[in-house]
Amino acid sequence: MKVLIIGSGGREHALAWKLSQSDVEQIVCVPGNGGTAALKRCENVPLAVDDFQGIGQCVQERQISLVVVGPELPLSLGISDYLRSQGIPVFGPTQAGAQIEASKSWAKELMQSAGVPTAAAQTFTDANAAKAYIRAQGVPVVVKADGLAAGKGVTVATTLAQAEAAVDAAFGGTFGLAGEKVLVEEYLTGQEVSVLVLTDGVSVQLLLPAQDHKRIGEGDTGANTGGMGAYAPVPLVTPALMDQIQREIIEPVVMALQQRGIDYRGVLYAGLMLTPKGGPKVIEFNCRFGDPETQVILPLLETPLEDLLLACAEQRLAQAPPIRWKTGVAACVVTAAQGYPGAYTKGQAISGIEQAEGLGVAVFQAGTKFRDQQLVTDGGRVLGVTAWGENFAQAIAEAYAAVEQIHYEGKYYRRDIGYRVRAGSATC
Ligand code: AMP
Ligand code: GLY
Repeated sequence: MKVLIIGSGGREHALAWKLSQSDVEQIVCVPGNGGTAALKRCENVPLAVDDFQGIGQCVQERQISLVVVGPELPLSLGISDYLRSQGIPVFGPTQAGAQIEASKSWAKELMQSAGVPTAAAQTFTDANAAKAYIRAQGVPVVVKADGLAAGKGVTVATTLAQAEAAVDAAFGGTFGLAGEKVLVEEYLTGQEVSVLVLTDGVSVQLLLPAQDHKRIGEGDTGANTGGMGAYAPVPLVTPALMDQIQREIIEPVVMALQQRGIDYRGVLYAGLMLTPKGGPKVIEFNCRFGDPETQVILPLLETPLEDLLLACAEQRLAQAPPIRWKTGVAACVVTAAQGYPGAYTKGQAISGIEQAEGLGVAVFQAGTKFRDQQLVTDGGRVLGVTAWGENFAQAIAEAYAAVEQIHYEGKYYRRDIGYRVRAGSATC
């Protein structure tokens, strides 16, 4: 089996890393990164993720048996439709299915029609109407640009001035077309968890629940980021709660997608708030694997990943046996560039990855590239250092010990990843 992975982040490195441990004959990453280039049987092909023709040609030339799409952008542009129309098995939803992430108003309507618990929201195409509604609702309130905004389109506003500024920013073009519509949403409290599901559009198999640390600062403070670290599984999410999430959220949404004639084969990622009184509510859906959630889920997967992905792509997930997991837990600490998620520097030389890996962890590369044979920083989130073991205390300590081995100018990381589970007692 030959697999082509689209994308260049830590998530794609983790997917390629997992596949490289199995019987997969060849892995092609488009465009991949310095980490994927170093994996066994793995090759990078420098094409853009939205170069459909180039990717289609690469798939034909190399006789690829499965394409796995990592990021939301090519999905939202219809890469799965394009490749599938050429008879290529693809893990990743169609353009219509990707709307679940690419349009928050579309996703909200889908959830409401399916009776799925989610924050109450109103959609606006006019700034004055949105502001009048916000004044009537009061704060805190959440303002969201409708479309893909690279994780920057959401403002949790605690003052009216912040909420109104967020409305102005969206309608003022800060997020381009993504801000032509704005959702004003009820503010939910509780703990956030990520429940990722593999689906072939009919059947579902839930992956281990993960918790991401979205804020830049320790104690979950400061600006939102793509994710500064994660751990899995989440002790708070008991098997009974997973069943409830499957019955009340996942299955109704998969059914609603089917009813709209949408062929959804890939990951359905539910970002949930575990509200103290109302149970789990959906904050957002993503149409892809989470980053850095994937970096903590895959090390614990026992079932060969390629079997699951191909079963989804070929719509035979119902015949696949239940997913098997290794015992134990995993934690990932993301190291970022100084200044992230604001403006940050690039091009700092990175050293110490081999020493870190020598401690038995996986160092997943995200914002990196080679310049004159030297690995340098090339993005906001630079590396994801993942360790796994019997308990959280051990896995987290190992991840941090490995982070200490890695050096580059301006290395920033949170020192409290997994603080809710660190002591080993399930206090979250
Ligand atoms: P999203 O891009 O929709 O995941 O939002 C980014 C982050 O904003 C989430 O991870 C939450 O921390 C926060 N957020 C989004 N919607 C809400 C909400 N309705 N209530 C409270 N926090 C929210
Ligand atoms: N870690 C959040 C995301 O993948 O969207």
